[in-house]
Amino acid sequence: MLTLFDYEREAESRLPPAHWGYIAGGANDEITLRANRAAFDRLAIRYRTMVDVSVRDLRTRVLGQSVSMPVLIAPTAMHKLAHPDGECGTARAARAAGTLMTASTTATTRLADVIAAAPGPMWFQLYLYQDRARTRELIEEAARCGYRGLMLTVDAPVLGRRERDIRLGFTLPPDLMLPNAAIAGMGRVPDASAEASGLMLHFRHLHDAAITPRDIEWVRDVSGLPVIVKGIVRGDDAVRAAAHGASAIVVSNHGGRQLDSAIPSIVALPEVVRALEDRAEVYVDGGVRRGTDVIKALALGARAVFLGRPILWGLAVNGEAGVREVLELMRAEVDLAMALSGVRCVAEITGDLVNRES
Ligand code: FNR
Ligand code: LAC
Repeated sequence: MLTLFDYEREAESRLPPAHWGYIAGGANDEITLRANRAAFDRLAIRYRTMVDVSVRDLRTRVLGQSVSMPVLIAPTAMHKLAHPDGECGTARAARAAGTLMTASTTATTRLADVIAAAPGPMWFQLYLYQDRARTRELIEEAARCGYRGLMLTVDAPVLGRRERDIRLGFTLPPDLMLPNAAIAGMGRVPDASAEASGLMLHFRHLHDAAITPRDIEWVRDVSGLPVIVKGIVRGDDAVRAAAHGASAIVVSNHGGRQLDSAIPSIVALPEVVRALEDRAEVYVDGGVRRGTDVIKALALGARAVFLGRPILWGLAVNGEAGVREVLELMRAEVDLAMALSGVRCVAEITGDLVNRES
């Protein structure tokens, strides 16, 4: 297992096709899913030489929180589909690696249990339910349990059409639940229908398609926590989010799972960075698979990157230890890429390192 792609292949061989399809898949023709990766490959690094790189420091800070490397864990649903260790295994692996996990609303483990498995800095990803009183309870519970930030996902007012999931009749197996959604009265995911996966039906029944910038202020005021807005690919949206209280923005197209033909997130990143003029921190996700991708993202102005699918690959292959392996592989790749790029710390990863014309 030398690369994240080795974990991808191994994970596929271990999971039932419908579960693999859910994790691997994107919306419709999966154009954006492929484009997220391809866009990284098109960027080239203008590495520096004749720099003493014998000592390297990968640490950085996100919203004041110190992390051991600029590689964080994106919120992904249903970790118990990948491995019985589930979200708690991921949480312990994140803690051991000194990085930050974002627990999902759509987790197969209750939010209190995820953070209890690895007490310390952790963020909670929030989906807004139509029932705002129940949503408020969820937000208050996240604050009570000690989550340090709330990541409000704004690119999924409705669920994208993942055609693999419809064809394979994807839903959660009967022994798994979405306990956070139980607050809103529906912890069990419905059976798939001929035209919709169980998850699509779950979203239709429960989730609020009317998200506005005012919700950012609401989430911040209810929780007293910084709000990280995820799923933005435009400068004007990022400015709107910051004006309504967002502390950080995740430039993301949900890993190509929502609007197909969406702009690749690494292509959208510079516009968002430019528009924000330091009014909020900026992170990016979507297709980050190599240490050199992290260099490219930071050079284009991101403070950190998030990994989505690779965490689930690690989990599927070897549970908590597999997530740890994936994170350590990324750490080694980032360290090597920094050394060969002539940078000693993340602050030295500046815009001139990447060739935007290629
Ligand atoms: C996701 N993503 C996601 N995002 C979110 O805000 N809440 C969620 O519950 C989920 N669930 C989820 C499940 C699975 C199986 C995947 C693959 C993704 C999106 C995720 O946070 C992230 O944006 C992408 O996964 C990043 O792209 P890569 O790293 O998977 O290419
Ligand atoms: C997904 C949702 C749950 O991407 O965010 O599957």
